[in-house]
Amino acid sequence: MLYLTRREVFSASHRLYNEKYTDEENLRIFGKCSNPNGHGHNYVLEVIVRGEIDYATGYVIDLKILKEIIIENVIKKVDHKNLNVDVDFMAGVIPTAENIAIGIWNQLEDKIPSGELYSIKIYETENNYVEYRGKGRL
Ligand code: NI
Repeated sequence: MLYLTRREVFSASHRLYNEKYTDEENLRIFGKCSNPNGHGHNYVLEVIVRGEIDYATGYVIDLKILKEIIIENVIKKVDHKNLNVDVDFMAGVIPTAENIAIGIWNQLEDKIPSGELYSIKIYETENNYVEYRGKGRL
């Protein structure tokens, strides 16, 4: 089994808040991330695909094709957008790194033409990242 990673970057804004809470409660829970007018991040996305090698090509998946799939289905939807309001696959969820990882997984899971999606990593800062490997998987 081989594991390939494609890395992409995008810039987006968000505000972490729960509409059921007051501004004071949101500030207590989410701190400065609940700033009413939002704030931005330069996100780093890593998409990891795993599979067996295709001996005709030597590839698990052609990374050019993987790149195009990520650009079309994720980057075009999130880059320079407000994750609270602009992104269809983030509708109705608080745009934490956790929920972004799950949303991107759901965008890509059934679009990988060879091998299978193994992991989505979202780096929100240099020191904080979230990894999602799909429902019910380790
Ligand atoms: Ni933030």
